[in-house]
Amino acid sequence: MLSTLKQQPADKILALMAKYKEDPRPTKIDLGVGVYKNAEGVTPVMRAVKEAERRLVAEQETKSYVALAGDPAFADAMIGLVLGNAVQREKIAAVATPGGTGAVRQAFELVKMANPTARVFVSNPTWPNHVSILKYVGIETVAYRYFDTETRAVDFDGMMADLSEAKSGDVVLLHGCCHNPTGANLNLTEWQAVVDLINDKGLIAMVDIAYQGFGDGLEEDAAATRLVASSVKECLIAGSCSKNFGVYRERTGILMAISEDAASTPLVQQNLNFLNRQNYSFPPDHGARVVTTILTDPELRADWAAELEEIRLGMLALREQLADELRKLSGSDRFGFIAEHRGMFSQIGTTPELVEKLRADNGIYMVGDSRMNIAGLNAETVPILAKAIVEAGI
Ligand code: LMR
Repeated sequence: MLSTLKQQPADKILALMAKYKEDPRPTKIDLGVGVYKNAEGVTPVMRAVKEAERRLVAEQETKSYVALAGDPAFADAMIGLVLGNAVQREKIAAVATPGGTGAVRQAFELVKMANPTARVFVSNPTWPNHVSILKYVGIETVAYRYFDTETRAVDFDGMMADLSEAKSGDVVLLHGCCHNPTGANLNLTEWQAVVDLINDKGLIAMVDIAYQGFGDGLEEDAAATRLVASSVKECLIAGSCSKNFGVYRERTGILMAISEDAASTPLVQQNLNFLNRQNYSFPPDHGARVVTTILTDPELRADWAAELEEIRLGMLALREQLADELRKLSGSDRFGFIAEHRGMFSQIGTTPELVEKLRADNGIYMVGDSRMNIAGLNAETVPILAKAIVEAGI
């Protein structure tokens, strides 16, 4: 049986991670996988996370199962963080999931269960695993224009034209903030137009929000998701704590499903619980409990928010420095978009060949679609990257 298996396509982000590890050059620079790193190249355990873990070790008395949906306190805390009070709590069903990826997977499975003929519209480009999971789950994917490779901003007219081709019941997958991989985002006027189109055409909104707090601030980054959730009939939201709490390996995420009315919530909740039971039974608890501890303790929450803000401002400063350096070296403003983009990533919009050249000649690792992780830089490596980009003729 096992010998009949076929080779599966490699995930390009994870394959790059492995390649970087093998590279013996001490000057190599990792701008690949979306993991935050400080100036020393370390992905630190955040202060509030350490403290919450200390408390858990001291106070936790059982490791018995919690509930198929995870701890209700986690759902409440995360709904508060992502949605504020934009949506009536009674309309929201939620389950804890293994990371944001788990939430995305459960959301697609729920779509398939509810409407087997629904198509999912994804931005071109999007996080490659969106497309990969959709294919695996057996859902038809339709790409909508998103990134203008000339301006490196959102091709909003193209996006709206492509979304207007969607049929009632199709799902539109949107990145709540900090678009991955491009770094280019809609403004709130544009979000409103997308919401209007979703409502006019009877589409279902799905928001993936994995980088809240990495763009313009915790509240600012949630604004679009709140607008969508409060304006459409039904909405799925996949949330991740991997990046903003730095708990990557703990696998901490949440899927929220918002119904048109509170009367539908118990049925949706029962289906979400069922999906958890089928796929892994109980969701991981440790990371979720750490996050709940932080969000429900005013002092820990303030310290977490302050550290997250330092991280956000650090990435913004790197963006500014890189854009300045490139302006100087190239004698042009064509890299100004790097300072305009938000979140961990910017797609610089060059060819896979030049991305490969940067890797081969300079030990600079970015994803083949020319996505770079800004957090992989520091003040010393920014000029090295800028020089390599200009010398490569990008
Ligand atoms: C990324 O886009 O690099 C991250 O979300 C990590 C991953 O799982 O791909």
